[in-house]
Amino acid sequence: MKSIASAPAKIILFGEHFVVHGTKAILAAINKRVTVTTTVTETRTLTGTLKINSQLGTFEIPMYDDPKQANFLSVENYDLGLSMIKSEFRPFVYLVGKMLDDARSRTSVPLNFQYGGLEITIDSDIPIGVGLGSSSACCVAAAASISELFKKLSSEKILNLSIEAEKTIFPDTSGADCTVCTYGGMIEYPSIEKIGNTFDLNLLIANSMIPHSTKRSVEKVSKFKENNEERFSQLCDLENGLIGEVNLALKNKDLTTLGLKMSENQKYLEEIQVSNDTLRGMISSLKEISLGTKITGAGDGGCIIALVKDENMDKVPALLPKDKECFSAKIDTKGVEGKREK
Ligand code: MEV
Repeated sequence: MKSIASAPAKIILFGEHFVVHGTKAILAAINKRVTVTTTVTETRTLTGTLKINSQLGTFEIPMYDDPKQANFLSVENYDLGLSMIKSEFRPFVYLVGKMLDDARSRTSVPLNFQYGGLEITIDSDIPIGVGLGSSSACCVAAAASISELFKKLSSEKILNLSIEAEKTIFPDTSGADCTVCTYGGMIEYPSIEKIGNTFDLNLLIANSMIPHSTKRSVEKVSKFKENNEERFSQLCDLENGLIGEVNLALKNKDLTTLGLKMSENQKYLEEIQVSNDTLRGMISSLKEISLGTKITGAGDGGCIIALVKDENMDKVPALLPKDKECFSAKIDTKGVEGKREK
């Protein structure tokens, strides 16, 4: 038996970083996905094995190493066990442990006889560590894929589980990335209601090819906030105001204003110091053909997004340095999707 679930990558159009401190944000799911397949590999074994395969490597851990069923993946062991596991595998181990704990509370039948061993395989076309939500999409797809073998969950429950899983590697997450990966489309976080009026936006994504750590960038911004409390609070107000204006621009299909607001948002991101020379260089290279350009995601590397008119799209590669990757993204209205197979 196996369960397959997929979830989309994301971009943040407005509000990254500020959203961690309570502002709104506008995010969209895009047409790149991660698929997580969870397969029952063995039944009725004493210890069982959880095996995880991803492009980052392979990891194995016993699922039930205590004859009394206080298995290794139990909630009581999370702090001890999870911290010893490499961060790229931690959310999956957490999710399996969580599901086993939940199952244990519902039944007195030994779990190893019911669930056996599990193999989780991650296939992704989302670039890792560049601000396109690879880790959130993985957590959402894994929460859907793993839970499906144990218990049918609502989208809301899958979302909550995926946020908990993501917190095992990034405790300060705002939850915005997992939310858009769960529901798809374009949303104004914290609402999950889709913004209908996205009129086929032509979004260019350019990858600086500099990997970043979202956790480190978020910590850096928290330090900035600590040292510049009043200004940071003003910037949060400005961001919320800007998002209000963006809503109007979207309603009016006003691309020019939308672009201007992206560039304005970039100024706030510069001020909180999550930009760098490479990103600034890329943004300035696209100036003549874009209506607006900004970092998307945590910054300090990763990707920028630009609002580019159709007729200018083919000029982009010549404007960017040769070592940068770029592609045009479409908004994906589909969020997490899954199915179970025999
Ligand atoms: C990362 O994609 C977005 C941040 O705002 C962090 C978060 O919202 O959790 C930087």
